[in-house]
Amino acid sequence: MISIKNKLSIQKMEVAGGLLSEILQAIGSMIKPGVSTAELDRWIEGELLARGLKSKTKGYMGYKHASCISVNDEVVHGVPSDKKILKSGDLVKVDVCASWNGYCADMARAFFVGEATDERHRKLIEVAQSALDKGIAQARAGNKLSDISAAIQQEVEKHGFGVIRDFAGHGIGKQMHEDPEVLNYGKAGNGPVLRPGMALALEPMITLGHYDVYVTKDEWTVKTVDKSLAAHVEDTVIITEHEPKITTRFRDGVGL
Ligand code: MF3
Ligand code: CO
Repeated sequence: MISIKNKLSIQKMEVAGGLLSEILQAIGSMIKPGVSTAELDRWIEGELLARGLKSKTKGYMGYKHASCISVNDEVVHGVPSDKKILKSGDLVKVDVCASWNGYCADMARAFFVGEATDERHRKLIEVAQSALDKGIAQARAGNKLSDISAAIQQEVEKHGFGVIRDFAGHGIGKQMHEDPEVLNYGKAGNGPVLRPGMALALEPMITLGHYDVYVTKDEWTVKTVDKSLAAHVEDTVIITEHEPKITTRFRDGVGL
Protein backbone atom coordinates (compact mmCIF):
# COMPACT_ATOMS: atom_id res chain seq x y z
CA MET A 1 0.00 0.00 0.00
CA ILE A 2 1.27 3.47 -0.88
CA SER A 3 0.62 5.82 2.02
CA ILE A 4 -0.72 9.34 1.50
CA LYS A 5 0.95 11.85 3.80
CA ASN A 6 -1.04 14.62 5.45
CA LYS A 7 0.06 18.24 5.57
CA LEU A 8 1.93 18.00 8.88
CA SER A 9 3.81 14.85 7.80
CA ILE A 10 4.79 16.58 4.58
CA GLN A 11 6.06 19.61 6.50
CA LYS A 12 8.20 17.34 8.67
CA MET A 13 9.58 15.58 5.60
CA GLU A 14 10.45 18.97 4.15
CA VAL A 15 12.36 19.96 7.26
CA ALA A 16 14.19 16.60 7.23
CA GLY A 17 15.10 17.11 3.58
CA GLY A 18 16.15 20.72 3.98
CA LEU A 19 18.45 19.90 6.88
CA LEU A 20 19.91 16.85 5.17
CA SER A 21 20.59 18.84 2.01
CA GLU A 22 22.70 21.29 4.04
CA ILE A 23 24.95 18.40 5.01
CA LEU A 24 25.36 17.01 1.50
CA GLN A 25 25.98 20.54 0.24
CA ALA A 26 28.73 21.11 2.80
CA ILE A 27 30.41 17.73 2.34
CA GLY A 28 31.75 18.78 -1.07
CA SER A 29 34.58 20.69 0.59
CA MET A 30 35.46 17.67 2.80
CA ILE A 31 36.04 15.38 -0.16
CA LYS A 32 39.78 15.67 -0.77
CA PRO A 33 42.69 13.33 -1.48
CA GLY A 34 43.88 11.57 1.69
CA VAL A 35 40.50 11.59 3.49
CA SER A 36 39.07 8.19 4.45
CA THR A 37 35.44 7.30 3.90
CA ALA A 38 35.16 6.56 7.65
CA GLU A 39 36.24 10.14 8.42
CA LEU A 40 33.53 11.42 6.11
CA ASP A 41 31.00 9.16 7.82
CA ARG A 42 31.99 10.43 11.28
CA TRP A 43 31.68 14.01 10.06
CA ILE A 44 28.20 13.23 8.71
CA GLU A 45 27.19 11.68 12.01
CA GLY A 46 28.17 14.87 13.85
CA GLU A 47 26.28 17.04 11.38
CA LEU A 48 23.13 14.90 11.73
CA LEU A 49 23.33 15.18 15.52
CA ALA A 50 23.84 18.95 15.37
CA ARG A 51 20.60 19.30 13.38
CA GLY A 52 18.41 16.94 15.40
CA LEU A 53 18.39 14.39 12.58
CA LYS A 54 18.43 10.67 13.34
CA SER A 55 20.28 8.28 11.05
CA LYS A 56 18.02 5.64 9.52
CA THR A 57 20.88 3.42 8.35
CA LYS A 58 22.67 3.03 11.69
CA GLY A 59 21.21 -0.15 13.15
CA TYR A 60 19.33 -1.02 9.95
CA MET A 61 19.74 -4.79 9.45
CA GLY A 62 23.02 -4.63 11.34
CA TYR A 63 24.45 -1.71 9.33
CA LYS A 64 26.68 0.37 11.60
CA HIS A 65 27.12 3.70 9.81
CA ALA A 66 25.35 7.01 9.27
CA SER A 67 26.05 6.95 5.53
CA CYS A 68 26.88 4.74 2.60
CA ILE A 69 29.97 5.92 0.74
CA SER A 70 30.67 4.18 -2.54
CA VAL A 71 33.82 4.82 -4.59
CA ASN A 72 34.41 4.28 -8.35
CA ASP A 73 33.05 0.82 -9.34
CA GLU A 74 31.15 0.59 -6.05
CA VAL A 75 27.59 1.58 -6.95
CA VAL A 76 25.71 1.87 -3.65
CA HIS A 77 25.86 0.69 -0.01
CA GLY A 78 29.62 1.21 0.26
CA VAL A 79 30.63 0.68 3.89
CA PRO A 80 32.72 3.55 5.33
CA SER A 81 36.21 2.42 6.30
CA ASP A 82 39.41 3.92 7.70
CA LYS A 83 41.24 1.86 5.09
CA LYS A 84 39.45 3.50 2.17
CA ILE A 85 41.46 6.61 1.44
CA LEU A 86 40.28 8.90 -1.34
CA LYS A 87 42.65 9.85 -4.14
CA SER A 88 42.44 12.42 -6.89
CA GLY A 89 40.10 11.43 -9.73
CA ASP A 90 37.99 9.05 -7.60
CA LEU A 91 34.21 9.22 -8.08
CA VAL A 92 32.55 9.23 -4.65
CA LYS A 93 28.84 8.72 -3.96
CA VAL A 94 27.58 9.78 -0.55
CA ASP A 95 24.12 8.48 0.45
CA VAL A 96 22.41 9.48 3.72
CA CYS A 97 18.94 8.70 5.05
CA ALA A 98 17.81 10.44 8.24
CA SER A 99 14.60 11.42 10.01
CA TRP A 100 13.48 14.61 11.70
CA ASN A 101 10.70 14.17 14.27
CA GLY A 102 10.03 10.72 12.82
CA TYR A 103 9.91 11.64 9.12
CA CYS A 104 12.61 10.69 6.64
CA ALA A 105 14.66 12.23 3.91
CA ASP A 106 16.90 10.12 1.70
CA MET A 107 19.53 11.80 -0.45
CA ALA A 108 22.68 10.96 -2.39
CA ARG A 109 25.16 13.04 -4.35
CA ALA A 110 28.16 12.13 -6.50
CA PHE A 111 31.49 14.00 -6.38
CA PHE A 112 34.91 13.80 -7.93
CA VAL A 113 37.94 13.98 -5.68
CA GLY A 114 39.71 16.91 -7.33
CA GLU A 115 39.04 16.80 -11.06
CA ALA A 116 37.58 14.05 -13.24
CA THR A 117 40.34 12.21 -15.10
CA ASP A 118 38.21 11.66 -18.20
CA GLU A 119 35.47 13.61 -19.97
CA ARG A 120 33.28 10.48 -20.06
CA HIS A 121 33.53 10.18 -16.26
CA ARG A 122 32.34 13.74 -15.87
CA LYS A 123 29.47 13.00 -18.25
CA LEU A 124 28.44 9.99 -16.15
CA ILE A 125 27.71 12.19 -13.12
CA GLU A 126 26.00 14.77 -15.27
CA VAL A 127 23.66 12.15 -16.75
CA ALA A 128 22.89 10.59 -13.34
CA GLN A 129 21.76 14.05 -12.27
CA SER A 130 19.78 14.78 -15.46
CA ALA A 131 18.13 11.33 -15.28
CA LEU A 132 17.06 12.13 -11.71
CA ASP A 133 15.65 15.46 -12.92
CA LYS A 134 13.75 13.74 -15.75
CA GLY A 135 12.32 11.23 -13.28
CA ILE A 136 11.28 13.99 -10.88
CA ALA A 137 9.55 15.84 -13.73
CA GLN A 138 7.26 12.79 -14.12
CA ALA A 139 6.43 12.67 -10.39
CA ARG A 140 3.09 14.37 -10.94
CA ALA A 141 -0.45 13.59 -9.83
CA GLY A 142 -2.28 11.60 -12.50
CA ASN A 143 0.87 10.09 -14.01
CA LYS A 144 1.62 6.38 -13.61
CA LEU A 145 4.52 5.18 -11.48
CA SER A 146 6.42 3.72 -14.43
CA ASP A 147 6.39 7.08 -16.23
CA ILE A 148 9.17 7.97 -13.78
CA SER A 149 11.07 4.73 -14.51
CA ALA A 150 10.82 5.15 -18.28
CA ALA A 151 12.00 8.78 -18.16
CA ILE A 152 15.07 7.79 -16.14
CA GLN A 153 15.98 4.87 -18.42
CA GLN A 154 15.54 6.94 -21.58
CA GLU A 155 17.85 9.69 -20.37
CA VAL A 156 20.56 7.23 -19.26
CA GLU A 157 20.50 5.06 -22.38
CA LYS A 158 20.37 8.08 -24.69
CA HIS A 159 23.92 8.77 -23.52
CA GLY A 160 25.04 5.16 -23.84
CA PHE A 161 25.26 4.39 -20.12
CA GLY A 162 23.83 1.36 -18.27
CA VAL A 163 20.87 1.42 -15.87
CA ILE A 164 21.15 -0.91 -12.89
CA ARG A 165 18.29 -3.37 -12.63
CA ASP A 166 18.94 -5.02 -9.26
CA PHE A 167 18.32 -1.96 -7.05
CA ALA A 168 15.61 0.67 -7.15
CA GLY A 169 14.12 3.78 -5.60
CA HIS A 170 11.30 3.49 -3.10
CA GLY A 171 8.43 5.06 -1.24
CA ILE A 172 9.47 6.91 1.91
CA GLY A 173 7.85 8.48 4.96
CA LYS A 174 8.11 7.36 8.56
CA GLN A 175 10.14 4.46 7.20
CA MET A 176 13.22 4.74 5.01
CA HIS A 177 11.76 2.14 2.66
CA GLU A 178 8.03 2.07 1.97
CA ASP A 179 5.90 0.97 -0.97
CA PRO A 180 6.20 1.28 -3.92
CA GLU A 181 9.45 0.13 -5.45
CA VAL A 182 10.50 2.69 -8.08
CA LEU A 183 12.44 0.96 -10.86
CA ASN A 184 14.92 2.98 -12.89
CA TYR A 185 13.85 1.27 -16.10
CA GLY A 186 10.61 0.16 -17.74
CA LYS A 187 7.84 1.15 -20.12
CA ALA A 188 5.74 4.24 -19.38
CA GLY A 189 2.07 3.92 -18.50
CA ASN A 190 2.19 1.09 -15.95
CA GLY A 191 1.72 0.74 -12.20
CA PRO A 192 -0.28 2.76 -9.70
CA VAL A 193 -1.53 6.28 -10.47
CA LEU A 194 0.47 8.92 -8.59
CA ARG A 195 -1.56 10.98 -6.13
CA PRO A 196 -0.89 14.09 -4.04
CA GLY A 197 0.70 13.17 -0.70
CA MET A 198 2.71 10.23 -2.02
CA ALA A 199 6.43 10.49 -1.26
CA LEU A 200 9.14 8.80 -3.31
CA ALA A 201 12.91 8.52 -3.09
CA LEU A 202 14.15 8.49 -6.70
CA GLU A 203 17.67 7.20 -7.19
CA PRO A 204 19.11 6.40 -10.60
CA MET A 205 22.14 4.10 -10.40
CA ILE A 206 24.07 4.13 -13.66
CA THR A 207 27.27 2.69 -15.11
CA LEU A 208 29.86 3.50 -17.74
CA GLY A 209 29.75 -0.13 -18.86
CA HIS A 210 27.37 -3.03 -18.27
CA TYR A 211 24.66 -2.75 -15.62
CA ASP A 212 25.37 -6.12 -13.97
CA VAL A 213 26.26 -5.80 -10.29
CA TYR A 214 27.06 -8.05 -7.32
CA VAL A 215 27.18 -7.70 -3.54
CA THR A 216 30.72 -8.09 -2.17
CA LYS A 217 31.62 -10.31 0.77
CA ASP A 218 31.10 -7.52 3.31
CA GLU A 219 27.41 -8.26 2.46
CA TRP A 220 26.64 -4.58 1.71
CA THR A 221 28.82 -3.03 -0.96
CA VAL A 222 27.34 -3.29 -4.46
CA LYS A 223 29.90 -3.28 -7.30
CA THR A 224 29.77 -3.47 -11.08
CA VAL A 225 30.76 -6.89 -12.45
CA ASP A 226 32.81 -5.37 -15.29
CA LYS A 227 34.54 -2.97 -12.83
CA SER A 228 33.18 0.03 -14.73
CA LEU A 229 32.59 3.32 -12.99
CA ALA A 230 29.16 3.92 -11.45
CA ALA A 231 27.20 7.02 -10.44
CA HIS A 232 24.24 7.37 -8.08
CA VAL A 233 22.22 10.39 -7.00
CA GLU A 234 19.01 10.52 -5.01
CA ASP A 235 16.32 12.98 -3.96
CA THR A 236 13.15 12.67 -1.90
CA VAL A 237 10.11 13.99 -3.75
CA ILE A 238 6.50 14.58 -2.72
CA ILE A 239 3.68 14.45 -5.26
CA THR A 240 1.44 17.53 -5.02
CA GLU A 241 -1.50 18.99 -6.95
CA HIS A 242 1.06 21.08 -8.81
CA GLU A 243 4.85 20.84 -9.18
CA PRO A 244 6.74 17.98 -7.50
CA LYS A 245 8.14 19.09 -4.15
CA ILE A 246 11.80 18.07 -3.81
CA THR A 247 12.49 18.01 -0.08
CA THR A 248 16.23 17.44 -0.47
CA ARG A 249 17.33 20.34 -2.64
CA PHE A 250 19.38 22.83 -0.69
CA ARG A 251 17.62 26.03 0.25
CA ASP A 252 18.32 28.70 2.83
CA GLY A 253 16.26 29.19 5.96
CA VAL A 254 14.75 25.78 6.58
CA GLY A 255 12.32 25.57 9.48
CA LEU A 256 8.88 24.48 10.48
N1 MF3 B 1 19.95 5.27 1.69
C1 MF3 B 1 19.86 4.00 1.03
C2 MF3 B 1 18.69 4.00 0.07
O1 MF3 B 1 18.63 4.86 -0.71
C3 MF3 B 1 19.71 2.90 1.99
C4 MF3 B 1 20.96 2.35 2.37
S1 MF3 B 1 20.69 0.92 3.22
C5 MF3 B 1 22.00 0.72 4.22
O2 MF3 B 1 17.86 3.17 0.04
F1 MF3 B 1 21.61 0.06 5.23
F2 MF3 B 1 22.94 0.17 3.54
F3 MF3 B 1 22.43 1.87 4.64
CO1 CO C 1 16.96 5.45 -1.12
